[in-house]
Amino acid sequence: MSLQSYPKTRLRRTRASDWSRRLVAENTLTANDLIWPVFIHDRDDEGDVEISSMPGVYRYSLKSVPNIVKKATELGIPAIALFPNISDDKKNSKGTEATNPTNIVCQAIKIAKAENPNIGIICDVALDPFTDHGHDGLLDSNNENVMNDETVEILIQQAIVQAKAGCDVIAPSDMMDGRIGLIREALEAEGLHNTQIMSYAAKYASGFYGPFRDAIGSADLKGKDKELQFRDKRGYQMDPANSDEALREVALDIYEGADSVMVKPGLAYLDVVQRISSEFKLPTYAYQVSGEYNMIKNAVNRGDLHEKVILESLLAFKRAGASGIFTYFAPFIAEKLLR
Ligand code: PBG
Repeated sequence: MSLQSYPKTRLRRTRASDWSRRLVAENTLTANDLIWPVFIHDRDDEGDVEISSMPGVYRYSLKSVPNIVKKATELGIPAIALFPNISDDKKNSKGTEATNPTNIVCQAIKIAKAENPNIGIICDVALDPFTDHGHDGLLDSNNENVMNDETVEILIQQAIVQAKAGCDVIAPSDMMDGRIGLIREALEAEGLHNTQIMSYAAKYASGFYGPFRDAIGSADLKGKDKELQFRDKRGYQMDPANSDEALREVALDIYEGADSVMVKPGLAYLDVVQRISSEFKLPTYAYQVSGEYNMIKNAVNRGDLHEKVILESLLAFKRAGASGIFTYFAPFIAEKLLR
């Protein structure tokens, strides 16, 4: 890079007026960059319930799914990501409801596709919404360690029932070893050649998921301690201290058949997004998670921060090289971008 010295160079020249700032902008956010995470629950009589730790975000009953799809379509949001909150009586230690072809996720996929077959549907593969202990997989006999290979067996079935119901993108968020390859193999064997796999390749054992566990009802299971909201998943999710390891996770997942990868959480891990997108040159997504939403939204609601920090935070993902962003702000920001 070569620069002339001041006053030949005045970097403020191109910043001086709006037309010029628009022309020189290096990144833009459009609705095409957004993925809207949507919580659904299985208690129709409850209707739509606001999640207290995520103001403005709701757990929807299945009846509301057509409207959500309509809204996403109108706003130009390409895809929604479905997350279930099921009743406690359907949960067990093995999370078997995850593999039920008529579970709430599969029902929601069908309803969404009936409303608009062209909307993208992304579904998590992990057992935490379905287990009575809230871990992403099966626990060993000491109830301590999540067992890898036994869990993957169930994840494969979960992926297949979702893909058969019409899910476009299978997104394993469980961090078990080897699951991408085995899910890919199973999808091929079922003739589901065009089902994409978006691997949560670099998913960190983060405190920023707290409100999500509230949202899917895995926070306070069976009246257990509220501490469970901050459940320790360090035995399978990544250590926040590491980023070389994230590259190894991604390399393996690409080798096993992932079409795209994900980094999660978002804002505190933008260096990881940048490293992955520049090293691998494949679609790299980032998830602005529930705790990030909570911090920004509450600060805006209190009047401590201006609402423009929402766009600013999303633009940061683009700068880091993200192809798209999972964000609970998706409908809000898409609406802003339209105007
Ligand atoms: C499930 C899963 C989690 C999130 C997405 N999928 C929680 C977790 O791993 O504990 C978090 C999303 C958010 O916080 O918004 N494995």
